[in-house]
Amino acid sequence: MKILITGVSGQLGRCLVERLGNEHQIIAADRTVLDLSNPETVVATVREIAPDLIINPAAYTAVDKAESEPELAAAVNTYAVAALAEAAKTLRIPLIHYSTDYVYAGNKKDADGKLAPYTESDPVAPLNVYGQTKAGGEQAIRESGCRHLIFRTSWVYSPYGKNFLLTMLKLAAEREQLNIVNDQFGAPTSAITVADITAQIIAQINSAKEASSAENWWTAHLGTYHLVNAGVTNWCDFTRAIVQEARLAGLLTTGPEIKGIPAISYPTPAKRPENSMLDLSKLKRVFGVSVPEWQDSLNECLRRLH
Ligand SMILES: NC(=O)c1ccc[n+]([C@@H]2O[C@H](COP(=O)([O-])OP(=O)(O)OC[C@H]3O[C@@H](n4cnc5c(N)ncnc54)[C@H](OP(=O)(O)O)[C@@H]3O)[C@@H](O)[C@H]2O)c1
Repeated sequence: MKILITGVSGQLGRCLVERLGNEHQIIAADRTVLDLSNPETVVATVREIAPDLIINPAAYTAVDKAESEPELAAAVNTYAVAALAEAAKTLRIPLIHYSTDYVYAGNKKDADGKLAPYTESDPVAPLNVYGQTKAGGEQAIRESGCRHLIFRTSWVYSPYGKNFLLTMLKLAAEREQLNIVNDQFGAPTSAITVADITAQIIAQINSAKEASSAENWWTAHLGTYHLVNAGVTNWCDFTRAIVQEARLAGLLTTGPEIKGIPAISYPTPAKRPENSMLDLSKLKRVFGVSVPEWQDSLNECLRRLH
């Protein structure tokens, strides 16, 4: 397939290009090719490229800065996504898009008052501008009527760019003590895993197309899914695992003391959810994919850094 991938300088964009590059013709669109802060240019550019599939990992991801740049965040995360969906609809091609745990309020509990994982049918109620603009993008895709898959992911890291894993490796090498939030819960998710599962699903789309059963495939699969690594932790325990595994892998020679702190003592401009746990049953059931535990994907990512 000829696949247009946006945001190729980002963590997930790079992993997607690496994973899909051998099997498909990739049009790697950075912001010089497709500037998503100018949504009105998007449809014409996509038409010119004429892909068979659009994958959109690009986003305005500066969660705190979005509080003071809501228009730019909305242009990239809502209006440009609406334009990609319009292009997909008019060109009769599918759109694969990524969204976030931040569309939820992050306070879901079960009957015993314990934090419970979100399912895709839970209502969205974002706590911050970034989450609102991402929820807007999702909604625009659904309203467009294009063939689409929306994958909500969380706590993304990779060997590339700016992310929690690389920041912790740097700080762990420099400091004797790290104070890390221990009362927010979710699944650290490797962009390598997200790209790999996306590639498995694209293979299914391709097979259905070749078997002339695309119509049926999309009827059964179109929609919104959680796509994160399996398991649950908090930022502090994630940091402990990073340091422990990085030392075993020879990436760190020393290990700082790691102290848990409540989120309330680490204030940020944007509010963040306490509960980012995303249920994976729908993804596994509908696509038949298996999802690695977060510890396994962490080790895979550390091996790439070696
Ligand atoms: N990172 C996380 O923890 C996390 C959590 C949940 C969901 N997600 C979602 O997962 C997806 C991938 O995230 P990521 O971590 O890979 O993001 P990332 O590393 O921050 O990359 C974002 C990409 O978007 C591009 N971009 C930003 N503004 C643009 C514009 N105006 N025009 C064109 N491209 C633009 C960036 O290009 P430049 O390099 O030129 O700025 C970059 O390539 C996103 O949809 C994000 O919302 C991420």
